[in-house]
Amino acid sequence: MKQDMIVILDLGSEENARLAREIRALGVYSEIHPHDITPEQLQALPNVKGIIVNGGANRIVDGEEIHVSKEILNAPVPVLTVDYDGDLTWPEDQKERENILSGFIFGLCGAEANWNMENFIADQVELIRRQVGDKKVLLALSGGVDSSVVAALLIKAIGKQLTCVHVNHGLLRKGEPEEVIRVFRDEMDANLVYVDAVDRFLDKLAGVSDPETKRKIIGAEFIRVFEEEARKLDGISFLGQGTIYPDIIESGTKTAKVVKSHHNVGGLPEDLQFELVEPLKMLFKDEVRACGKALGLPDGMVYRQPFPGPGLGVRCLGAITRERLEAVRESDAILREEFARNGLEGKVWQYFTAVPDFTSVGVREGKRSDEWPCILRAVNTVDAMTATVEDVPFALLQHITKRITTEVKGINRVLYDLTPKPTGTIEWE
Ligand code: XMP
Repeated sequence: MKQDMIVILDLGSEENARLAREIRALGVYSEIHPHDITPEQLQALPNVKGIIVNGGANRIVDGEEIHVSKEILNAPVPVLTVDYDGDLTWPEDQKERENILSGFIFGLCGAEANWNMENFIADQVELIRRQVGDKKVLLALSGGVDSSVVAALLIKAIGKQLTCVHVNHGLLRKGEPEEVIRVFRDEMDANLVYVDAVDRFLDKLAGVSDPETKRKIIGAEFIRVFEEEARKLDGISFLGQGTIYPDIIESGTKTAKVVKSHHNVGGLPEDLQFELVEPLKMLFKDEVRACGKALGLPDGMVYRQPFPGPGLGVRCLGAITRERLEAVRESDAILREEFARNGLEGKVWQYFTAVPDFTSVGVREGKRSDEWPCILRAVNTVDAMTATVEDVPFALLQHITKRITTEVKGINRVLYDLTPKPTGTIEWE
C-alpha cells in the first residue's frame, strides 16, 4: 500500500467529515471508523500511522456516555484525544487547529504527505484485485459521475471480469447512451451490456401523471430490468457500486443520526445476494471527479451537472408522452449547447428545461398553433437545500428562446423561471 492513513474514531461528532477533509488537505489519507473498532479490525487497516479520538457534545447515546476501549487508547500508534475526557479541545482558530493536526500527523506519527490520486488508484486497484480474486463483478452503469468513475476503476483493476449494464430507460439526455457506449465499450474495451428498455419504461409510464408514482415506476422498473440482466449472466459474485462518502455519512454511522436513507443501499431482491465492491466509498465528490480525471474519463462525464435518477421523466411534467419527452430532450440539448458556448457550463450548478402538459395559443407561419411552453431553469446552490437563480444575460435568453421555438417541435413559448428555492424546488415535480 502506498498511502499512510490517519484513523478518526467516530463518537458522533458532526465535525468528523470536516476533520477528515482537513487531514486530506494536509496530504495524508484519512478514514472515519466506529468508536468501538476492535484492535484486530484496526490492525487490518493498511498503513495506520495514528488515531484521532474525536469526542464532542454528541458522545451521549441513549443517555450514556460512549467510550473508546483501553486497547485502542493504548494502540501501538500515537493516539490524539480531542474533546474527550477533559483534555485537549479544538481551538476556534483554523490556523491553530492546523498546527495541532500537522504537529500530530507529521511530528508524532511520522506520516508522509503521500495522499494523491495516483497513489489512491494504485491502492484501490490492489484492494479490488485482492477482494475479487478471479471472480466476476456486475455494475449498473448509468453514465453519472459516480458509476462512471467506479466503472473506470474496476476496468483498470479487473478488466473483463467486470460486466457493466447500461439501461436506457428513454429518460436520458440527448447523446448520453451513445457516450456511455463510446467511452466504455469503444475506448476502454469494457464488457458492456446495453439494454434498450425505452418502450418498456414508456409503456409502464403511459397515462401516469402523479410525480411520486412516476418516480416509483421508474425506480421499480429499473431494478426489474437490471435483475433480469443479472440473471442472464453466469457466475457473478460481486456487485460494484458508486457509493461515495457523503452517501455513507448521510445514511448515519453507528453514532451519528440518520439524515436520509442512502439510495444505493438495498433495492435488489433477496435471492440475488452479491457482495459489494465500493472502491469510492471513502471519497468526497470533488475527489471522485479528480479520480475520474486521473483515470482518463472525459470532462463532460467527470464534471457532469447533477441529474435526477428518474431523468427527464420529472421534467416531462404530468403524464409522459413520446412527443413531449422529445421536446424536453431537444430543448435541454439546446440549453446545454448554448451554456457551453457562452461560458456558463462550468459556472452554473444545474440547468435544464421542463415542458408542462398544457398548450397555449400561438402563431406559426401566419396560422394559429396550439403548442406547449418550455420552461428554462438555471440555479446555483451548495447543498441543493436552498438555491438561487442564475442571472443569465437577457440576450442569451432571447437567443435560446429563438432556437427552441424554431428547432423544437411543438414549442411556441419559452419562459425563464425566476424563483429561488424556497419557494420553488429545483425541479418542477
Ligand atoms: P429539488 O427539486 O428537490 O431537487 O429541489 C434537489 C436536487 O435533487 C435532484 N432530484 C433528484 N435526484 N432522484 C434523484 O436522484 C429524484 O427523484 C430527484 N428529484 C430531484 C434535483 O435534480 C436537484 O439537483
